[in-house]
Amino acid sequence: MSITNAPDPEIRAGVVRRDLQNVLHPIVQHKVLEARQMVVTRAHGSTIYDADGTAYLDGMSGLWCVNIGYGRSELADVAADQMQQLAYFPHTQMNVPAAGLAEKINMLLGGDYHIYFVNSGSEANEAGFKIARQYQKHEHPGEFRYKTISRYHAYHGTTLAALDAGGIGDRKAKFEPFSGDFIHVAPPYCYRCPFGLSYPGCGLACVKNMESSIQGENPDTIAEVIVEPIMSGVGVAVPPDEYLKEVDAVCRRYGILLHVDEVINGFGRTGKMFAHQHYGVSPDIVAVAKGISSAYMPIAATAVKNQVFQSFYGEASENRQVFQVNTYGGHPVAAAVALRNIEILQAEKLAERAAEMGAYLQDGLRTLGRHSIVGDVRGKGLLQAVELVKDRSTKEAVDASVVTTVVDFCRDNGVIVGRGGGAWRSGNVIVLSPPLVITRGECDRLVDTLDRALATQTKG
Ligand SMILES: Cc1ncc(COP(=O)(O)O)c(C=O)c1O
Repeated sequence: MSITNAPDPEIRAGVVRRDLQNVLHPIVQHKVLEARQMVVTRAHGSTIYDADGTAYLDGMSGLWCVNIGYGRSELADVAADQMQQLAYFPHTQMNVPAAGLAEKINMLLGGDYHIYFVNSGSEANEAGFKIARQYQKHEHPGEFRYKTISRYHAYHGTTLAALDAGGIGDRKAKFEPFSGDFIHVAPPYCYRCPFGLSYPGCGLACVKNMESSIQGENPDTIAEVIVEPIMSGVGVAVPPDEYLKEVDAVCRRYGILLHVDEVINGFGRTGKMFAHQHYGVSPDIVAVAKGISSAYMPIAATAVKNQVFQSFYGEASENRQVFQVNTYGGHPVAAAVALRNIEILQAEKLAERAAEMGAYLQDGLRTLGRHSIVGDVRGKGLLQAVELVKDRSTKEAVDASVVTTVVDFCRDNGVIVGRGGGAWRSGNVIVLSPPLVITRGECDRLVDTLDRALATQTKG
């Protein structure tokens, strides 16, 4: 197949017609699609191209996922070879690529895990919830430890339980009521501390809030705590350094499992292979997706600590096995592609590069502080954010239309940036999560374009 970027108005018109007449798109309003008919046709490195031949620097690596960058033809070769060898067989038996990928992920996590394969981040978290419940049933017979503690403003996926685990009311409103099995506590969102405190004087009030919620719920009813080490959806909230270790200590005190969501954070994004490795914890359950294959194939996984795995190990007659299956889990082609993707991440030292380029990008973003609407610049590695406010002292969020104008200005100037939650409902945070192969020149372009976008909103 030839890869060209020659604009072809007829092909473009045909795609738009077929799409608008037949496709139901996720999250975006169709009237918006009708007005802005973007057809993405190819991509390379950190750049995507539309059917008109226009190039865009992708500051979001798709949906925070194309970690090794676009256009790696060796992954296509790996997929083609594996399809010829073995395209599919259910993972109730073993296959070569899935065993290799599990070993690779286990080694990256420190070697004390078993890996359960699924297809998306939502499913990886769902499997985590279910494994935690089943584990507690095995270990505490006669007790009913089923609840998950999670945080407000978190996002953990789109399926019903994952959505319930999340703490974004607007995303949930159309599907309520939920089960009541997910108990929400205050997030470590220091720029807008829910307790009005500042670190370090706060004494980690958010962890105390988590512990008192656990006590109030009755610890004997709680299976696990889920946290994304560095919250993404809220607009990138980097917690105080001791936060995760303290959460881990709370979990240990009450026999509760710690489940970390590394769906965005994982595979180098924050400057280490996994974000929890910044904080010296060894979680019981780790959900991974996105960067596992840099989105070249849909695949995800739930890693469980061997101590948890042991609870599922026994005679067939004991009925202790993982009590679920999904058709495509451990898919040989997806696993082969993911394994090669991780080998590339390692060979090109892309986690280290994310740390270096992230620091460079953040230095650039800090210069945007000259615009009065920039309230906060924060992030770790290549997960960065700029929060926009009307007034730095009150932190009142800018109107939604300001952020829309900034995002649209960037896109009209060939740069894609994202938008995160921030203050309640407003989506007043510009988020950046570019491919880990982004260059210094491309980081400069992200900053320069945002600078010009913000200049349209402030007098400087
Ligand atoms: C932190 C986090 N967890 C889970 C998910 C769900 O992943 P998926 O969309 O692959 O189901 C997402 C998706 O963006 C996410 O950001």
